[in-house]
Parts: sequence; structure tokens; C-alpha cells
Amino acid sequence: MTDPKTYHVKSYGCQMNVYDGERMAELMAAQGLTATDDAGAADLVVLNTCHIREKATEKVYSEIGRLRKNAGEHGRRAPMIAVAGCVAQAEGEEIIRRAKVDVVVGPQAYHNLPRLVADAAHGTASLDTDMPAIAKFGALPARRRVGPTAFLTVQEGCDKFCTYCVVPYTRGAEVSRGFDSLIDEAKALVDAGAREITLLGQNVNAWSQGERGLHDLIVALDRIPGLARIRYTTSHPNDMTQGLIDAHRDVEKLMPFLHLPVQSGSERVLKAMNRSHTRDSYLRVLDRVRAARPDIALSGDFIVGFPGETDAEFEDTLRLVDEVGYAQCFSFKYSPRPGTPAAEMEDAFVPDAVADERLQRLQAALNRHQLAFNDASVGSSCAVLLERAGRHPGQMIGKSPWLQSVHLETDAAIGDMVEVDLVSAGPNSLAGVARVKQAA
Ligand code: SAH
Ligand code: SF4
Ligand code: F3S
Repeated sequence: MTDPKTYHVKSYGCQMNVYDGERMAELMAAQGLTATDDAGAADLVVLNTCHIREKATEKVYSEIGRLRKNAGEHGRRAPMIAVAGCVAQAEGEEIIRRAKVDVVVGPQAYHNLPRLVADAAHGTASLDTDMPAIAKFGALPARRRVGPTAFLTVQEGCDKFCTYCVVPYTRGAEVSRGFDSLIDEAKALVDAGAREITLLGQNVNAWSQGERGLHDLIVALDRIPGLARIRYTTSHPNDMTQGLIDAHRDVEKLMPFLHLPVQSGSERVLKAMNRSHTRDSYLRVLDRVRAARPDIALSGDFIVGFPGETDAEFEDTLRLVDEVGYAQCFSFKYSPRPGTPAAEMEDAFVPDAVADERLQRLQAALNRHQLAFNDASVGSSCAVLLERAGRHPGQMIGKSPWLQSVHLETDAAIGDMVEVDLVSAGPNSLAGVARVKQAA
């Protein structure tokens, strides 16, 4: 194989993978490789994988097969394939054996990608799934031009060990990046065009350095000129400190949105999940957040069909959903993951058909609440950060402070903040009318 000249990075899974994918692209560009949007035409394809649910892994193998088949059909040599991300970390050896890929690199080792690619070009399939805590960030090139919204990973890994979850195994223990390097990267992102930064972490609100917590970082980011909006995700209920809750009242640039997964509304299931919070303690955290910021939009994650979940326990989840009134949510059917304690509870697995039906009922309830939340915005006005062009000329799509998609006609540009009257709502977006700018 020769040295690749073009590359394509494809990311699956969570926003942290999107961030890692951007950083890997920057690494390849710094090596002089050219990006291509067409994975089928690239010399090097990086598959940045996710291991969270069963089908995610299978998708990787079928994508590898598709890439090779496509190259064969076009009379091209098969691309060099690098498997990165959480499947690489969990099943690296297996992937090399089963799919004979050229490079396997874990989420904590991707700063070594240039060396691994060079080795592969000279005939050595290479694997690096070491987990040096946070070493990679110091070894990555400067941030390139970005759009109006940018991700910034501040914390990685998880120590919570929920019994269904692979993340503590694929991403390792909780580590926080240093304060100064984060402020530097945030400033670089703003210089490169970002107006909104979303702080990322598997447990982002566990970020700490010495006495400082996430709210101190948010307060410091608030002072960066040119940065208009700050968000953060994903948070754990046990790490919602009073300082962070107060920041929702005190920090102007911090948006009124909180993604706080609860997974289940049943005390027994939460215990079996090893969530380390109860239904009650979760609801009390939300009470405190709402006291600090009454208009906050709430979001969460749910798992249905956890081993042993009864009909009555599932009803507890539906009741919690009605009590909270989420603005948006993600919900999943439980998927047994190799190496996790819940996967051993085979005798208690919930039949697929039952889990399917529960998922449908839960999603119907969540959609109902999402529509109600959007409906309640109609008739008000808010600032919308324009993120991309819509399908029709003059149409733009942006986000409200509450993370709703808003469609509007305007001649303002991507990255502009526009004051918008919200005129109608659907389950997934709102339509708005841009206010005419008053003469100064
Ligand atoms: N750290 C975050 C979640 C990371 S994983 C948190 O605790 O909130 C994202 C979501 O995937 C989880 O919130 C959970 O709802 C879902 N998930 C994780 N493992 C799963 C599994 N084995 N089966 C189904 N869904 C799962
Ligand atoms: Fe997984 Fe639980 Fe950690 Fe979230 S808190 S990443 S669900 S182990
Ligand atoms: Fe998936 Fe890993 Fe993120 S398993 S959800 S890519 S942390």
C-alpha cells in the first residue's frame, strides 16, 4: 500500500465522537492529506465507531464490506481503513482478525494516527488502544475554521459503571482537561468562527480541576468576547452541583437547556442499573434547577426493557415523563453489551416484542410533551442563532435558546443572531418570522 493522499472521516455515536472526528480530520490535514466528502473515493477512510448498542458494531462491519465492494466495482484499490472510537477500543484485536483492517486506534490514542497510517502504508497493520490520560490533547494541531456552533471536549471517561453501559470500559476513568488549555481552545474556536460552544463530556458536570468545577469554567467562557452561547452535555444527576445550578441563573450566555438522563422512573430498576440516584433525588435536582431558571428546557435519556423491568415499573417511567414534561428526549431499547453486568442477567431479559411496545408507548408520550413544549413557545419571540441554509432560497434554520430548530425567511447570514417571532410549531421544529431591524 502507498501513502494515502485523500481522507474521509465518518463518525458514529455521540457528540464526543463528532469532536474526535473533527480532531482526526485536522491531524490528517496537518499531514498534507486532502479531505474528500466521498468516502468511496478516499485513499484513507477513518471509521470513528460507537459501541453503545448492538447494531452499532454490526454497522461498522457492513460499512467496511461496503467500502471494499464499492472500490472493487469501480476498479479502484480498496481504501486503507482505520477503525477508531469505542468499537476499536473494545474489540480492536477482533476487528483486525475479522475484517483485516489496516489501523485500529482507540479514543485516547488517536493523536498517534499519522504514525499508525504511515506504518500501515508500509505494510504493517497496527493497533494502538493505550489509554494515557488526556495525553492526546497536547499532541493535536491547532483548530481550523469551524461553523457557528462548535464542540469542545472538556472531560472524558466515566466512573459510574451503570450495569448496562460499555462507556467506562471503552473510554476509561473520568479525567478532566486542564482549565487553561480549555480556555485557549475556546478562544481559538471563537477566532475560527464559533459563536456557540457546547462543552462535552461523558459526564461533563464531573469536570473539575482542584477547587474549580464546571461552573467556574462556564463563568470564564462567559467573558470571551464574540462567544454568544454556552451549552454543555451530558450531565449526571449526582454531579449537578449548586454552583452549576446557580450558573443557570447568573451566567447570561449559558443557555436554558439541560440534558439530564434518568434512564428509568422505577426505583427498583434504577438500583439494578446502579444509577446511584433515585427517582426522588433526580426529581429534587430538577426542582432546584427550575427554581434557578424557571424557563429551562429539560431533556433526558431512557432505556426500556432493562432486564427484569415489569409492566408496573415501565408505568413508573411513563408517570415520571408526565411529571417532568420534557422538551425533548432520547429513548432506547435495552441492548445487552458484552462484559457488562446486566448482560449476565439473561434469565430476566424482557422479550423483544414487549420492549418494542414499551418503546413505542414511551416515544409517543415524549413526542406529545415535545409538541406541547414547542406549542407553548408560539406567540413569543426569541434570539435564533442561524446555523444553516434551508431548502428554499432565503430560508434559514437556526436554534432557539431552548435548542428548538427554528425555520425562517431572512437575508441574514449563517452565524448571525436574529430576533424572531415564533408563529407555529410542529413536533420537531418551529416556524418563525424575523423581526425587521430597527434603525439605530
Ligand atoms: N453518560 C451519559 C450517557 C452516555 S450513553 C449518561 O449517563 O447520561 C448515552 C445513552 O445511551 C445513555 O444515556 C443510555 O440511555 C443509552 N444506553 C447506554 N447503554 C445502553 C444499552 N446497553 N442499551 C440501550 N441503551 C443504552
Ligand atoms: Fe454509561 Fe452510566 Fe457512565 Fe453514563 S453514567 S456513561 S450511562 S456508565
Ligand atoms: Fe458510543 Fe463511545 Fe460515545 S460507545 S456513545 S461513541 S462514548
